[in-house]
Amino acid sequence: MPHTTCPSRLDCSVGSKHHGWMAERALKVAIVGQGYVGLPLAIRSVEVGHDVVAFDVDGRRVERLKAADSYVEDISSSQLAEALATGRYLPTTDAANLAGFDVALITVPTPLKDGGPDLSFIEDAGRTLAVYLEPGATVVLESTTYPGTTDELLAGLLAKGSGLVAGRDFHLGYSPERIDPGNKAFGLAGTPKVVSGVNAASLEAVQRFYDSIVDKTIPVSGPREAELTKLIENTFRHVNVALVNELAMFAAELGVDVWEALDAASTKPFGFMRFNPGPGVGGHCLPIDPSYLSWHVRTSLGRSFRFVELANDVNDHMPQYVVERLAAALNRRKLALNGSRVLLLGLAYKPNTSDMRESPALAVAQRLVRLGAGVRYVDDHIPELEPLPGGADAQLIRGTLSADEVAAADAVVVLTDHDDIDYEFVAEHSRYVLDTRHRCRGGVVEYL
Ligand SMILES: NC(=O)c1ccc[n+]([C@@H]2O[C@H](COP(=O)([O-])OP(=O)(O)OC[C@H]3O[C@@H](n4cnc5c(N)ncnc54)[C@H](O)[C@@H]3O)[C@@H](O)[C@H]2O)c1
Repeated sequence: MPHTTCPSRLDCSVGSKHHGWMAERALKVAIVGQGYVGLPLAIRSVEVGHDVVAFDVDGRRVERLKAADSYVEDISSSQLAEALATGRYLPTTDAANLAGFDVALITVPTPLKDGGPDLSFIEDAGRTLAVYLEPGATVVLESTTYPGTTDELLAGLLAKGSGLVAGRDFHLGYSPERIDPGNKAFGLAGTPKVVSGVNAASLEAVQRFYDSIVDKTIPVSGPREAELTKLIENTFRHVNVALVNELAMFAAELGVDVWEALDAASTKPFGFMRFNPGPGVGGHCLPIDPSYLSWHVRTSLGRSFRFVELANDVNDHMPQYVVERLAAALNRRKLALNGSRVLLLGLAYKPNTSDMRESPALAVAQRLVRLGAGVRYVDDHIPELEPLPGGADAQLIRGTLSADEVAAADAVVVLTDHDDIDYEFVAEHSRYVLDTRHRCRGGVVEYL
């Protein structure tokens, strides 16, 4: 078996239109997982001239990719069609297509299981890649995880399955994804990318690849620093969102307008960064990633990461708080939640996306169903609801935004501020609005 630290598979081989380099040889890039993170990476890699094997275990997703039917907002179906037309984008469930890869990126989920990290998807991906790993190739983990996952767990799995040693026979690194679905200002290529490797040669190989697909790479000294970088970014947001959520609850009781105070504080040109209150946190990142860090601190050091635990506590409580505020508002009109008609605007966890993962809006909806409210919703970004615990999804009735729909509701609750909702119209036709996003204006509107 050849032992090499030479990043030969990456040398002079990248055909980056983006950087104006000449292609000598297209790289074969394997992307394991075609979700919110993997699909944009795949399309970008095709754009700059690489050959991409887009491997996913979900056959339905792969069929949709093959039919140029995108399920990720940031990638349009026409972009998919263009990528397919190049003949350099191969969506597949057949791992045999991974053979001979130069670079492999792992973009599989890292959820929580019983409050701790569930690394089973990374483990499966590592075992699959190990079969096809050849000397000189490069493997990069992108999934969010705690420090040590790349150089301990993944390196071990790849070595076991291939007989090759990371840093000696092949390159291994970690590069955290910073993708922000729905963000029009910062896409994949324009957002600086932190890169790392288990040794200098690995870092060089990893950086060289990412330099071909993004404008700017930021090298750090090792995978653990890169893994922590991602957790710091998400924990920072999680904690700050919790801060303003707790403030919003106190301000409401004190009779102070927290939104006006936030507007005013935001005029400070330095030392302040705005975060907005809301019905809780959702998505794959904020409700999950900080817990990877607190779990790691607890299991490695035996101590609790108090900021993360407090932030979880505050943010997890928000859906209940929204329902309490709604109940109080109905009560003032001598109405009970039980039997009232409530219209929810937006169920996705963030505006202008269809992503419902861990959405606090769903937690609000389920709670209202349990309390006997007749719950209807409008969210044109969501084609159909996923099954919810206790069959609650069957009790949520889909509506369309009309004067009749809004006027028929005893209360309207704005949960996700999609831009396609006419908030003036909502305020004009509603009897009462609880706006958790501060988008509506008018006498019947109350804010979080
Ligand atoms: N969504 C985001 O905004 C975001 C941002 C930054 C980082 N991340 C991180 O990136 C990772 C991926 O997140 P995502 O949002 O793309 O997830 P996702 O659920 O949208 O996509 C993951 C894909 O991986 C596939 N998969 C699972 N196991 C596999 C295996 N063994 N082999 C091949 N495919 C497999 C799934 O079928 C799915 O299509 C997570 O660790 C997440 O925390 C996500």
